[in-house]
Amino acid sequence: MPLAIREISKSFGEKAVLRGVSHVFPERGASAISGPSGCGKTTLLRILLGLEEPDGGEAHIPKGAKRAAVFQEDRLIPHLSAAANIALVAPDLPAGEIAALLEAVGLDASEKQRVAKYSGGMRRRVALVRALAVRPDILFLDEPFTGLDDAVKEKCAALTRERMRGGLIVVVTHDGDEAALLGCTDMLRLPAAPKEETP
Ligand SMILES: Nc1ncnc2c1ncn2[C@@H]1O[C@H](COP(=O)(O)OP(=O)(O)O)[C@@H](O)[C@H]1O
Ligand SMILES: [Mg+2]
Repeated sequence: MPLAIREISKSFGEKAVLRGVSHVFPERGASAISGPSGCGKTTLLRILLGLEEPDGGEAHIPKGAKRAAVFQEDRLIPHLSAAANIALVAPDLPAGEIAALLEAVGLDASEKQRVAKYSGGMRRRVALVRALAVRPDILFLDEPFTGLDDAVKEKCAALTRERMRGGLIVVVTHDGDEAALLGCTDMLRLPAAPKEETP
């Protein structure tokens, strides 16, 4: 059975964020999740990653599926270089392959500088390469290409599609172009979270 959610609900305090959300994701390829700001897109990804428990409903994760994610914030180790950040999660990956992945998104793999000195867009690309380095079966991307210029977006999308061939990409995005670049054929639209009840 593919990745699927059934009647997922989640509230934070009085605030109901996800209310009875169901979806069956494709076995492979790419799937987009969209919806207005604050509607629970990141929360849903966190549930699919097992980082958050839903209040109700269930998420089915295909047995043995390796999951990786790129969140809106990059979560890199700031004092390490780009290559060292990647080697940390993929210690068996040959240095040459790490370099090839970094070069594929337009980064200089021989750069020894710590990623703290990188621009936001460069760190975002390092975070993408780090997720791809572990060869996940399912890759979750939370608005991955925000702030990248078009040429860089295309490089990132091409590498992601190539490396994820046979697997599933689940991407939170507002941007139809981003969804198209990643080859999304499936879309889950989340409704706006209800306004908080005022007592
Ligand atoms: N850990 C948390 N505690 C309290 N409120 C949260 C928490 N995580 C998310 N929220 C709230 O849930 C709503 C949905 O958040 P989020 O999933 O980040 O939305 P989106 O990614 O669609 O913009 C927001 O109102 C947010 O403030
Ligand atoms: Mg979000």
